[in-house]
Amino acid sequence: MKKQKRENINLFELDNLEAASALLEFNWQFRSSRALMAAHQLGIFEVLAKPKQASEVARECSTDPLMTEKLLIVCCALGVVRRDADYFRLTKLGSDMLLPDSPRYIGGVIGHNEIIWWATTGLPEVVRTGKRDAAPDPPERFKKDLFDDWIWAMHGIAANGPAQWLARQLDLSDRNLLLDVAGGPGTYSIALCQRFPHLKAVVWDLPATLTIARKVINLFGMSGQIKVQKGDWGKDAFGSGYDCLLMSNILHGPGSQAETRLKQSKQALLPGGLLIVHDFLLNNDRSGPLPASLFNLWLGTYTINEIVEVIRKAGFIDVSLIASNAQRGSGLITARRP
Ligand SMILES: C[S@@+](CC[C@H](N)C(=O)[O-])C[C@H]1O[C@@H](n2cnc3c(N)ncnc32)[C@H](O)[C@@H]1O
Repeated sequence: MKKQKRENINLFELDNLEAASALLEFNWQFRSSRALMAAHQLGIFEVLAKPKQASEVARECSTDPLMTEKLLIVCCALGVVRRDADYFRLTKLGSDMLLPDSPRYIGGVIGHNEIIWWATTGLPEVVRTGKRDAAPDPPERFKKDLFDDWIWAMHGIAANGPAQWLARQLDLSDRNLLLDVAGGPGTYSIALCQRFPHLKAVVWDLPATLTIARKVINLFGMSGQIKVQKGDWGKDAFGSGYDCLLMSNILHGPGSQAETRLKQSKQALLPGGLLIVHDFLLNNDRSGPLPASLFNLWLGTYTINEIVEVIRKAGFIDVSLIASNAQRGSGLITARRP
């Protein structure tokens, strides 16, 4: 077949240059993320609790001085480190988010993301085979803190915006006792109890998770309002007598046994009790939003209409989406036990 002759192409006539740059930027972004993870892994942020020269940081972290300075320059550009001549120090954002004794520390998030990083390098294989275990296993050093990092990650994420967002969307002024099913570190309960000071809450979860929840609840001085209760949803009932109940980030699409969890929740609620569901949600035409689509790729995500239907079928009434968090790709649904 004869090749068709193409017209000369003028670079200045190419359209969509802004969208093209944004797409290129998406493709580059992993380098920023990798730099943040490397600085965290090397303990650089902790060393920078006090201002230091790059050579001192390198000595304390056992790293190469020249590469350390280059990494510190990236951290400055990311806004977590500030440079004053030869000295580097954490910015307020850096010390708020990257020092372990900060109440909004995201070390768990970065550690957890390291696991996801390894898994996602195997994405082509996972898509080819349809098997999630086709992804490579992360190195042992990342696996040893896997569970704790995961639960601390839930805190690091929630404390830096989603918990405040969720609490601001709800009016629990006429509710007294909240059950936070699989409440993890308890951060959403903390936000709700701080916004509604008369409210009491119970964080219900596995014993290993509750070890962390107790620490988080104490850190925020909330043990007077929030208790913990151990339970395993595979064999235990959720209890009874609650007038509101939160299920945050546990109804992850069709594989999550949502129907069973919702029936258990209904039994725990008093008649008239308020069910609150918070999760990633795909829009109804399944074209996004991006955070929900990425979550769906690895675990599973309902569309808005699907989750409303699942909740309705479990016997709840007045089911409605009351808010969407576009940045997080999540939605908040409330319903009532008749
Ligand atoms: C994704 S986290 C959600 C935590 C919290 N609700 C939030 O939104 O941050 C899932 C939670 O489910 C809990 N979980 C997992 N298996 C469980 C089980 N069999 N019984 C009770 N809780 C369980 C985990 O301990 C974890 O806290």
